Amino acid sequence: MKILGIETSCDETSAAVVENGISIISNIVYSQVEIHKSYNGVVPEIASRNHLIKMLEVLDMALRDVPLSDIDAVAVTNGPGLIGSLLVGLSTAKGLALSLAKPLIPVNHVEAHMYAPHLFNMIDFPYIGLVASGGHTLLYMCSGYDSLELIGTTVDDAVGEAYDKVAKLLGLGYPGGPLIDKLAREGNPDIPEFSDMPRLLPDTERDRYNFSYSGLKTAIAYRLGRIRNTDAAKKDIAAAFQKSAIELLCRKTKNALNDFNVKRLAVSGGVAANSLLREEILKLKYEGFEVYTAPAEYCSDNAAMVAGRGYQDYKAGRIGNLRTDAYSRLSVIKKGKR
Ligand code: KG4
Ligand code: ZN
Repeated sequence: MKILGIETSCDETSAAVVENGISIISNIVYSQVEIHKSYNGVVPEIASRNHLIKMLEVLDMALRDVPLSDIDAVAVTNGPGLIGSLLVGLSTAKGLALSLAKPLIPVNHVEAHMYAPHLFNMIDFPYIGLVASGGHTLLYMCSGYDSLELIGTTVDDAVGEAYDKVAKLLGLGYPGGPLIDKLAREGNPDIPEFSDMPRLLPDTERDRYNFSYSGLKTAIAYRLGRIRNTDAAKKDIAAAFQKSAIELLCRKTKNALNDFNVKRLAVSGGVAANSLLREEILKLKYEGFEVYTAPAEYCSDNAAMVAGRGYQDYKAGRIGNLRTDAYSRLSVIKKGKR
């Protein structure tokens, strides 16, 4: 079964064709980063206008080797995300599904991210799923595609959001994640000015699987005043920030693996491209855990993960129609089972 996937939830316009939920036939991603750079973040109105400009070109490219007549269903992200941006992809998908007389499959963006590792690995259930992106930091107990239990989340900023904010403080530009990641590799996280960094969100019963990042951003802002703002200092600050940010992700994830007695971990979302996080989670293999992720370009927003997840949603009978709406917030999935 060939599914055409469409993703426009934030600032990537993407279309892909995936067969049977695993074989990626095409995956075209047009990133608007260059457009939003000068604003230090995504401007929603500009994002939706540019999705509109690029959508058909991206679709044409994704369908270059697959005639439309071969498409069996159209999967599309309908939330959570920026409403104006989502509507561009959703309307395009509705038009295509209607004209082809094929099913429309609405896909949850977070569930699509979680599917990315499945595109490249045979992963048995159950596993712990960590989603770390610009909009979300989430821990799930995954017992099946349709049995996802949210066990932890951020109490304030998402980890990717913290990367972007600290990059702004350092005057590095947008998006901050890859820029800080690169600088951090050349810096020393253990310089004395940062020796009093707070240990983020202790493991109390309430917050055992939760994350918090706004305090880290503030801690960095305070300490910035204490050191000279040279290029060398920026590298050390980036390294100190990255060490704390990733330590928290790994600590809470390990809490979940141990408490739920699960031996498998899958990591997804834009921050899963982070070099230190990838290094740290790979170490878990030496402790007997199976660790899965996707290549870096499939960790950030792309339509292949939407088409893949759409295949599972289709099999579960979750079909949309012309009334299918877009939604902005994750609160549609409450803590607990899907
Ligand atoms: O999943 P994604 O593409 O979009 C959302 O759904 O949010 O994630 C984007 C986020 C941005 O905050 C970006 O700074 C972060 O992922 N990111 C990284 C890295 N690459 C992207 N964060 C840390 N290290 C990276 N290498
Ligand atoms: Zn995303």
